[in-house]
Amino acid sequence: MTEYIDISIREKNIAFIGFMGVGKTTIGQLVAKKLYRDFIDIDQEIERIHQMPVSLIFQELGETSFRKMERELIVSLCSGTRLKIISLGGGAYMQEEVRKACLSHCIVFFIDLSWEYWKERIPLIIDSRPILQNKSLTEIEELFLRRQSAYSIHHSKISSSEIDAETCADQIVESLKLAWELYHPNHDSFY
Ligand code: S3P
Repeated sequence: MTEYIDISIREKNIAFIGFMGVGKTTIGQLVAKKLYRDFIDIDQEIERIHQMPVSLIFQELGETSFRKMERELIVSLCSGTRLKIISLGGGAYMQEEVRKACLSHCIVFFIDLSWEYWKERIPLIIDSRPILQNKSLTEIEELFLRRQSAYSIHHSKISSSEIDAETCADQIVESLKLAWELYHPNHDSFY
């Protein structure tokens, strides 16, 4: 059961989730720029802290260590006071603790790209994603489908299959502004 923390929607962080290579970082950066907020890409932050590329962390320390690093970082960023926009690695949201932290402290946007569109991107991302190594196309598709049930737990979904990152970001900003306008938790104090 998710614990919902009573904070105003305007004071929530924004988190982007979705399978690897769907454009979470690009879209997250654009949204952050449009809203004048800080942006943190979890993988880049782990690389900065540990001074190692993610692929080397997988190779030298193993996936379990990487999952611990991402879990601890996300949980700590989510509960921090400064408002931020974060983009999660595709596997992070499979961890229950990560889901709980994100759903409690962030507005969670699922960037949804269909398998048909996603598989066209494989050549662009395969070398930098250890999780995709030594897997057949069928195994990658199974992983893609298996993860969808976790991604389905979100606050808002945007399909990036037929629109570019800039249009996605504009639609996200519009939907946030609408939600912020509709929901004024401090409104009552004026009457
Ligand atoms: C992973 C996705 C990657 C990165 C790591 C593991 C995954 O991030 O965290 O290679 O398990 O899906 P992106 O989603 O940014 O590619």
